[in-house]
Amino acid sequence: MNSAQTYNYDVVRKFAVMSVVWGIVGMLVGVIIAFLLVFPDMLEGIPYLSFGRLRPLHTNAVIFAFGGSALFATSYYIVQRTCHTPLFAPKLAAFTFWGWQLVIVLAAITLPLGFTSSKEYAELEWPIDILITIVWVSYAIVFFGTIMMRKVKHIYVANWFFGAYIITIAMLHIVNNLEIPITWTKSYSIYSGVQDAMIQWWYGHNAVGFFLTAAFLGMMYYFIPKQVGRPVYSYRLSVVHFWALVFTYIWAGPHHLMYTALPDWTQSLGMVLSLILLAPSWGGMINGIMTLSGAWEKLRDDPILKFLVVSVSFYGMSTFEGPMMAIKTVNALSHYTDWTIGHVHSGALGWVGMVSMGSLYYLIPRLYNTTMYSMKLINIHFWTATIGVVLYITSMWISGIMQGLMWRAVNSDGTLTYSFVESVQAMHPFYFVRGVGGAVFLFGMLIMAYNVYKTIAQGKAYNAPVVAPAH
Ligand code: HEM
Ligand code: HEM
Repeated sequence: MNSAQTYNYDVVRKFAVMSVVWGIVGMLVGVIIAFLLVFPDMLEGIPYLSFGRLRPLHTNAVIFAFGGSALFATSYYIVQRTCHTPLFAPKLAAFTFWGWQLVIVLAAITLPLGFTSSKEYAELEWPIDILITIVWVSYAIVFFGTIMMRKVKHIYVANWFFGAYIITIAMLHIVNNLEIPITWTKSYSIYSGVQDAMIQWWYGHNAVGFFLTAAFLGMMYYFIPKQVGRPVYSYRLSVVHFWALVFTYIWAGPHHLMYTALPDWTQSLGMVLSLILLAPSWGGMINGIMTLSGAWEKLRDDPILKFLVVSVSFYGMSTFEGPMMAIKTVNALSHYTDWTIGHVHSGALGWVGMVSMGSLYYLIPRLYNTTMYSMKLINIHFWTATIGVVLYITSMWISGIMQGLMWRAVNSDGTLTYSFVESVQAMHPFYFVRGVGGAVFLFGMLIMAYNVYKTIAQGKAYNAPVVAPAH
């Protein structure tokens, strides 16, 4: 091997920094829409900043800009390190960075202007969809090309999860976005009626399953063992976890369409496979957490590890809650309520947010050949994030269950006990608490940005030499 060969950290650095930037932007929009639900006339008269336009901006920014950039950064880092080779096609890798940022900027322009295909998490209009496809195929070429160039026979389990996410997202994105363009900014889905709904939630659920779950599990499988300094608890379990998870997720989409025009058997099938999904999810959680066995004391004073381990605990919580909500009778209560929003954010803030933060804290100093500027600030960030999530999800659980119960309450003569507006009034204090929780969580991100900035300032962009495989 050429001893001067180095890993390509350049593209990793760019994505890692942008993940922090987009995290702040996306969460700021989250806080704004949270307070719009408390003070509905806060931004009255500005159509670009209405709830309906900012909400998809929030979801796209946090999922694809913040989460996506973190995933590009970590997957590019992990695939090189575990394959003992620099990235395949470095120019194409650089293109994925600029292309992805362009997608994000176009989203940030078009969504407030009201251009939308109106499919949740797939709102972007067709020219942007085509750009996403080109960037994603380039990503696949770089990622799988690097795997092909590997200097070890074995493919580390994190790469299996990243590989599954890259392939599945390509398939979901293309199938769900098949549409007929009418103008440059408007298209209509080729599906209609219940088929459209089914395709949309096959996409939506697997965006959760593969984007927000499988890929972040790739992060977990690399960064927890690295930060603890011990191998994964059970490699065999990780392989079972992988196959069971990718097989089961793909069937669970109908739990988003309970009591709709979708055939009843499809809904039941979706419910049963969602219940089964608990097993692989918890298998993975146990594997992540048990990697600490024999090293639990490290949790006491390592805030990066705290982020990683608490994120896996939230993963366990939300993958217990999800299957429960997929039970038809439970969904009859939870659907359309804030309970769903609480569930989403225990996954999104607790799992996706915190595992990304822990991984970025591990990664960023290594990209600049230094250590994090302040471990104390990471610890403060950890506590603000934890308090923020807890305020967010507990308020949404209470308001969600209350909403569900108020809507179904009937008097002895069969009339509704509460009018809709009474239920809206009852939500008000909980929306306020959620807004505060979100603001606290966002404050933690600002602390992170400062700490990352100081770390970069004290370090120097660095590309580590390629490590020869052990054998
Ligand atoms: C400061 C942090 C955040 C705040 C304050 C916040 C706030 C909100 C609010 C107010 C909504 C709309 C709820 C509704 O329509 O009733 C929402 C929706 C959503 N947010 Fe966040 N959010 C935050 C962070 C995140 C993160 C980090 C993610 C993902 C990684 C995320 C993913 C989502 C998703 C997927 C939805 C749509 C949920 C659904 O349709 O059921 N959020 N958020
Ligand atoms: C075993 C795993 C899981 C199952 C079975 C599951 C199940 C569910 C169910 C039943 C709903 C409510 C559907 C409805 O009534 O509309 C839901 C919504 C949702 N879940 Fe999960 N969940 C799981 C894990 C997760 C995780 C880990 C995350 C985030 C990282 C997540 C993100 C979401 C989102 C974003 C929605 C809202 C979709 C929407 O309506 O816009 N889920 N999930």
